[in-house]
Amino acid sequence: MTNHRVDVALGDRSYSVLVGHGVINQLEELLPKSAKRAVVITQNNIVLQPELKIPSTTVVIGDGEEHKNLQTIEMLSQKFAEFGLTRNDVVVGVGGGMVTDIAGFAAASWHRGTPVVHVATSLVGMVDAAIGGKTGVNIAQGKNLVGAFWQPSGVLCDLDALKTLPQREMRCGLGEVAKYHFLTGDDLLALEMPERIARCVEIKAKIVAADERESGSRALLNYGHTLAHALERSSNFSLAHGEAVAVGMIFAAHVAHAMQRIDQARVDEHYRVIGQTYGLKVKPDEKIDRHALINLMKHDKKAISGLTFVLDGPSGIEVVAGVTEAHLSQAFDAMQLIEK
Ligand code: GLY
Repeated sequence: MTNHRVDVALGDRSYSVLVGHGVINQLEELLPKSAKRAVVITQNNIVLQPELKIPSTTVVIGDGEEHKNLQTIEMLSQKFAEFGLTRNDVVVGVGGGMVTDIAGFAAASWHRGTPVVHVATSLVGMVDAAIGGKTGVNIAQGKNLVGAFWQPSGVLCDLDALKTLPQREMRCGLGEVAKYHFLTGDDLLALEMPERIARCVEIKAKIVAADERESGSRALLNYGHTLAHALERSSNFSLAHGEAVAVGMIFAAHVAHAMQRIDQARVDEHYRVIGQTYGLKVKPDEKIDRHALINLMKHDKKAISGLTFVLDGPSGIEVVAGVTEAHLSQAFDAMQLIEK
């Protein structure tokens, strides 16, 4: 079986992402040579676990967004201290996006920066979260508000993990894959799973290499995310990230239409691709409160000056300032959501 290797080119911090069945067995080759011990961070429901030759300990963290917080980072730091983890050692995050975000942040802050390797076990983790060094946790005021850019030393996307991935989580991953469809125009569903994941990693790797700290083009990866984050928070995370991103891209298409950046045919294409091709929800089942959502969108951490959106347009998808509440209201009207 062919495995794929995609490099994230970041000078002396460049690293490889290995995609394929059984790549977890290649973990040793991604560990920093200096590492004499490892702390593996994972969750109870993660079946895939690495076997390490160096001494290691495993710390299990809670499942669910409510555990993605600073208390978990403190607990992990105490475990690192008890185990005697040094900044020459390594943290290994084994799990979905939540685990790799937490493991990455714990590693970034331990001794002001300790290497981390991610073993992504969900589709979202493989095509997005584990790649590119965004790490962090939530606080009461919002998602991922505390964090750091901390690039891993390597990433493994072991497709064996997808065999037991619940369907809903698979759909969430497809939300991010559909995002790459709009960013590149690639027919990603035409590819077999290993090639599809490798291609998504390649698309993200290129964007991260060009703009590691999101001062420009990396923001395009947030297509559909402004409404998505607001929907996730207002539903108390009952709407999962990938599902919310799918709805968020439909909303973004309507906002772009309200601003006369795209025509109705392109809005329809968003419905076709997201709803039919990818089989994702194009609107939430629950009632929404548009005023609460607009308020949350105004306070999105990406909104540096007023409402900033990633929108489709005549020159493709780009970051657009100058979106008004009237545009958002027009988009909500057009989506015909059930309102509170
Ligand atoms: N998930 C968006 C990014 O990594 O920039």
